[in-house]
Amino acid sequence: MNLVMIGTGYVGLTTGVGFAMLGHKVACVDIDAGKIARLDLGEVPFYEPGVQEALKTMQGSGNILFTTDLKSVIGNADVLMLAVGTPPKSAGEADLTALFSVADHVGSLLDHEVVVVTKSTVPVGTNRLVLARIREAMKEAGREGLTSLVNIVSVPEFLREGTALEDFLHSDRIVIGADDGIAAQTIDKLHEGITAPRVITSIESAELTKYAANAFLATKISFINEIANLADRVGADVRDIARGIGLDPRIGPAFLRAGIGYGGSCFPKDVSALEQLSGEHGYSFRLLPAVIEVNGRQRDLFFKRLVRDLGGVKGRRIAVWGLAFKPDTDDVRESAAIDIAQRLCAQGAEVVAYDPKATDNARMVLADSVVFAPTAIDACSGAEALVVLTEWPEFREVSFPALKDRMIEPRIFDGRNHLADLHLSQHGFTYRGIGLGSYDV
Ligand code: UDX
Repeated sequence: MNLVMIGTGYVGLTTGVGFAMLGHKVACVDIDAGKIARLDLGEVPFYEPGVQEALKTMQGSGNILFTTDLKSVIGNADVLMLAVGTPPKSAGEADLTALFSVADHVGSLLDHEVVVVTKSTVPVGTNRLVLARIREAMKEAGREGLTSLVNIVSVPEFLREGTALEDFLHSDRIVIGADDGIAAQTIDKLHEGITAPRVITSIESAELTKYAANAFLATKISFINEIANLADRVGADVRDIARGIGLDPRIGPAFLRAGIGYGGSCFPKDVSALEQLSGEHGYSFRLLPAVIEVNGRQRDLFFKRLVRDLGGVKGRRIAVWGLAFKPDTDDVRESAAIDIAQRLCAQGAEVVAYDPKATDNARMVLADSVVFAPTAIDACSGAEALVVLTEWPEFREVSFPALKDRMIEPRIFDGRNHLADLHLSQHGFTYRGIGLGSYDV
């Protein structure tokens, strides 16, 4: 099929490359000419494992192309996918400006049968508004008679940064929300080659499924973080509790890692947007404010203990490992690690940080308040404490005797329990994790 993907962020690009790998002809459109020029040269503007290589292969096969000119590619489209950003506004609701502007543009150009798919995460009701705007623009362009040829389908994405392409190719499920059975069939066919169960449903159910999935996962994280805080008070180990409950298939082992809480471009935004949506429909979704509050409190608690244990951080050299919101990405949006680094700086600490991939993005946010080290061990030279904020695998490979020699005080505060099983206290470190039952609170 011919697919036109509008928006080349990490969802749009990864999904576009994925559909090209399934054998479709994909045209990726973005208004950012600089981005399109780089993509045209096969350069992916963000770090996402596997995407760069797959893009090169697909460009070689002629299955994918990049353009800023929607008009030049829309005429051939069987399916039009909208994957533009829907960032949160100050009150938490999704900003749909970019999506609506794309809808107007699409409508002004469309003159044939097409299925429009919304990939962007949008509040319930948005797909219908997008379709209405497309049809309205078609009318204004004098093509009122063709509006019934255009249908909309909501196909939310469940891609995790760091494993997005794998998640696309090996999806657990494909949710297809449509009014029109033929349009739903077209989208089912578009995913041929992916053997995941299809959940064919209404547009509203599909829209809400996406928010429900992310809010549930966020709830799981906040839940285990609450258990971790209690574990510290009663002398229990949250890792054992996570295993003990996670082996129950009704609970499952994933998303039970305690730490400084969730971040990223999705969870904080989607949990707030769902709370907002509930409020707009006159429903008080009691769990969500608690999930958000617990998530924020994790950072507060971690930071408070750090400052208390060090007897203040002003003028002290602190090493920070990890700035990305999670490993295997260079994304620092809503990163708990960035937040902690900023708090350290605000209290006058001398912060030396290292992240394997996110340094460039972190530099844009932290500017020169932080010194960036070229390696994990270099970040620790002369440091009075090491703070681990993102669980990059390479941090476990460091030579800890060498690390100890570099530090003024061998103290580790691990915000992700990433090094907890290395028994570093037996090697002369003072080690503090989260919910390991050893923290005096
Ligand atoms: C998430 C969803 O997983 C994905 O399905 C959706 O489409 C987009 O949002 P992503 O934002 O890439 O993906 O990150 P994810 O791997 O889900 O992690 C989110 C945050 O939760 C990270 O900050 C991570 O560190 C944190 N987390 C995750 C925990 O604190 N504990 C856990 O057990 C798991």
